[in-house]
Amino acid sequence: MLRVENLQKNFNVKILGDKHIPGCHDISFQLKAGQFVSLSGPSGAGKSTILKCIYRTYLPGSGHIWYDSANYGVVDLATVSERILLDIRNREMAYVSQFLNVIPRVSALDLVMEPILTRNGVSYQEARERACHLLQRLQIPEELFEAYPATFSGGEQQRVNIARAVSWKPRLLLLDEPTASLDVKSIDRVLELLTELRQQGTTMVGIFHDPEIMKKTASHIYPLQ
Ligand SMILES: Nc1ncnc2c1ncn2[C@@H]1O[C@H](COP(=O)(O)OP(=O)(O)OP(=O)(O)O)[C@@H](O)[C@H]1O
Ligand SMILES: [Mg+2]
Repeated sequence: MLRVENLQKNFNVKILGDKHIPGCHDISFQLKAGQFVSLSGPSGAGKSTILKCIYRTYLPGSGHIWYDSANYGVVDLATVSERILLDIRNREMAYVSQFLNVIPRVSALDLVMEPILTRNGVSYQEARERACHLLQRLQIPEELFEAYPATFSGGEQQRVNIARAVSWKPRLLLLDEPTASLDVKSIDRVLELLTELRQQGTTMVGIFHDPEIMKKTASHIYPLQ
């Protein structure tokens, strides 16, 4: 489903006089459909950089990211056209960053409903029910459903973020420390959701600081130096 081959990314930082900062170096790993690879390694090793290269928030410097797309067959996410990349993001691939990119004046419920409505082609009523169910499972208090997440706590924002990414059952899910600001009970709820999603066929690449969580969720671990 996904094969990362000799991926490398360096940053040239202009304000440091074009200083050359290594992001990630010679990264190779692969996943079959339904597998869950967790990237592990010390802070600064390049874990987030790898995820951002797969989602192409960062343009890879060299190497390949072969992805077997449902709609386009095998494509190299490192070089595929913007048009195809955006379509793959829309229909197949979701990315959970550590913090919610808060969209002003959109309620938590609407944030979670929106991808279900646009991607799964279900009725408004069904999308609403699915979104409510997810938010309940992630223990977002019901009085917050219609509120704007800009004012939510870090942990609440993170759970809305996860709900939005998993609500439409993407084919490939990228998770950058999705449980970093959560308490033990919320973490368990998130892990349950991720396990269910995997059983339904979603392939995942994730980063978890806590080795216990990593062992519980991942089918494979890719260590970085
Ligand atoms: N946009 C950027 N511009 C310049 N340097 C960057 C940029 N993004 C990442 N880096 C550098 O790349 C290296 C890897 O960063 P990255 O965020 O991938 O690490 P990480 O393994 O995710 O660390 P952490 O566990 O702390 O999140 C770091 O030295 C970082 O400073
Ligand atoms: Mg990181």
